[in-house]
Amino acid sequence: MSKSHREDAKILNLFPWRSPAPLLFAGWRLRDSSSAPELESAKAYALWAATYPAEAHNPLMRAEEEAMLDLLPDTRGLRAIDLACGSGRYLRHLQNRGAACCVGLDLSAEMLARAPAVHSQLARATMLSLPLLDGSIDLVVCGLAVGHLPDLNPALREVARVLKPGGTVLYSDFHPFGHLAGWKRGFRANGSEYSVRHYPHLYAEHHAACAGAGLTIDAVREPCAVDESGRRAWGDIPAALIVRAVKAKPNAD
Ligand SMILES: C[S@@+](CC[C@H](N)C(=O)[O-])C[C@H]1O[C@@H](n2cnc3c(N)ncnc32)[C@H](O)[C@@H]1O
Repeated sequence: MSKSHREDAKILNLFPWRSPAPLLFAGWRLRDSSSAPELESAKAYALWAATYPAEAHNPLMRAEEEAMLDLLPDTRGLRAIDLACGSGRYLRHLQNRGAACCVGLDLSAEMLARAPAVHSQLARATMLSLPLLDGSIDLVVCGLAVGHLPDLNPALREVARVLKPGGTVLYSDFHPFGHLAGWKRGFRANGSEYSVRHYPHLYAEHHAACAGAGLTIDAVREPCAVDESGRRAWGDIPAALIVRAVKAKPNAD
């Protein structure tokens, strides 16, 4: 344990936490054990893709997915995109729920290669510049990816640009409380441990970025882990921050 970590631990132990204190301790432990190199997302997902599952694969993602699906509008007949689709988790849900046409976009060719062949509509693109016409999309879904961006504003402006008036964006982020508690997105590749660089965004940033892009937030969720192992590890710290927002329709008059 490094000197600064020992001092942090002393402060945590001395501080008059109300029981149960282990939440912070769990975060501290995670931080302490993560001497793994932290990679920017492009490098990280190039390495992680080979073993990255196409479904929610930990308690955090299960909590996030349950809340996302709860907020997902009726997708029947819609033209939808799964933005930063990775291995196609939400593409599958969009297809199963009757979207007329859906496309998965992601920056990582390695992650796109993991999306099942049945999702033939895949393209490599960054959230910062979408290869889509203005006002052409009914629904944008984006799972656990905006935390890879230091600034939410350009991505939400792009989302708003491609949405039709009245269209919806539903996205999730790793919750900033988890980041403050020291949680990392860690993975193993080629026998080594790594973590992915994450940029935490407080709710005020999401609100300002949506408002600045002309998107009105109509629902927010902060789900905690839903299963026993997640509750044991993370207690009451929310796993994800989920935002649903709608692009305003022009005034009828
Ligand atoms: C945690 S994974 C989530 C994948 C999928 N959305 C899901 O929820 O299962 C984050 C994804 O964001 C993608 N990503 C990161 N930065 C991006 C960017 N600037 N533009 C597009 N995709 C990006 C990564 O390649 C990775 O596939």
